[in-house]
Amino acid sequence: MAESSTVPLPAKAAVRLSGWLNQLGISPLAFDDTLSLINPLLTVHRLHARIVARQVETGTATTLVLQAGPAFKGLKPGQFVMIGVTINGVRHRRAYSPRTVEGHANRFAITVQRQPGGLVSNHLNEQARVGQFIEIEQAAGAFTLPSPLPAEVLFIAGGSGITPSMAMLEHLQRHFSKTKATLIYFARSRDDRIFAKALDKMASTWSGFQYVAIDSVANTPNDGSGRASSAAGVSASQQVLDADMLGRLVPNWTKIPAYCCGPAPLMDAARAIWKEAGSTNWKNTGIAARLHLEAFAPAKPSGDPHARHEVRIVRDAETKSFQAAGDQTLLIAGETAGLSIKHGCRQGICHECTCRLNHGSVRDLTSGERIDGEGQPIRLCVSSAMSDLDLESLN
Ligand code: FES
Repeated sequence: MAESSTVPLPAKAAVRLSGWLNQLGISPLAFDDTLSLINPLLTVHRLHARIVARQVETGTATTLVLQAGPAFKGLKPGQFVMIGVTINGVRHRRAYSPRTVEGHANRFAITVQRQPGGLVSNHLNEQARVGQFIEIEQAAGAFTLPSPLPAEVLFIAGGSGITPSMAMLEHLQRHFSKTKATLIYFARSRDDRIFAKALDKMASTWSGFQYVAIDSVANTPNDGSGRASSAAGVSASQQVLDADMLGRLVPNWTKIPAYCCGPAPLMDAARAIWKEAGSTNWKNTGIAARLHLEAFAPAKPSGDPHARHEVRIVRDAETKSFQAAGDQTLLIAGETAGLSIKHGCRQGICHECTCRLNHGSVRDLTSGERIDGEGQPIRLCVSSAMSDLDLESLN
């Protein structure tokens, strides 16, 4: 594993120098470009990381260990980092949940699961090599452990939705092992379960950790590999998350923080279970608010594919129009019409595609709820049109 021999320019000095040059009319990005010729890790505005290790996790998932430069501000377990790659001359950005690597400043690992038709996930699985540089952004996101830490935490994951939970679990085991934690992890089979060995080891070395691995095809979509999952045969289970399971495994599940990340069916099930518990248990207030959800894959609308809705979007006093079908996200519909729409993760996490809904109705694909236009913010990547719309870009 080759290491950089360049002595890093202290981040504060680089930021200060960039500020002075900016006052002289020299663009910070031009300064970054110059730094990146010396060493891409020195940049302070457009950050880079070098791939220092690569490990195949399953037949469809690869972990990349990334070394960021001194301008990277670190991360909280559970947050996401936007990764930028250029494919066929077009820059694409996606959100990944990193795990910190102990003993190395600004070093973290991302695990990339191939998605069916996933441009960036397939590119990273096939093309990423040790020694390459990729663009990164500062960590962000609120899918993180509460402060102060509670005595017990519940994690529910499906497929590659394990990555933010794994980051939080590793953090708890390393630094707060008196905290009790339960992980309920759905995957199509053990072969498809990312971190299977690491989780077995965690369960055998952390007495406060309850690990429940469930092989089921009900919550986890086909992995896109084209091969049959070993769980898809006669032994395939249709086990889903339900309140009985939670009651058996974690009797006080309504009273502790819960983190759920996975495919839409799993997230929908969790949302419904916590909502039902909140509506029938008036003595235990705030149940629904204890459930934290994070999507890991682009949303798939199920509206009428034949419906055509007129969408007008105002940005910088300029109005653009396009048509959106009921089974398209507004982001996809706009891009299909040739519009360049500001976006980041495409998963409802980064809020870069947020617009104000001034008129019309949309379906929020993360909550399933209908939103009627009264000036509310909506995210185009996880919203589908239910009528003609008037939108105003907020970014
Ligand atoms: S692109 Fe990130 S929330 Fe829509």
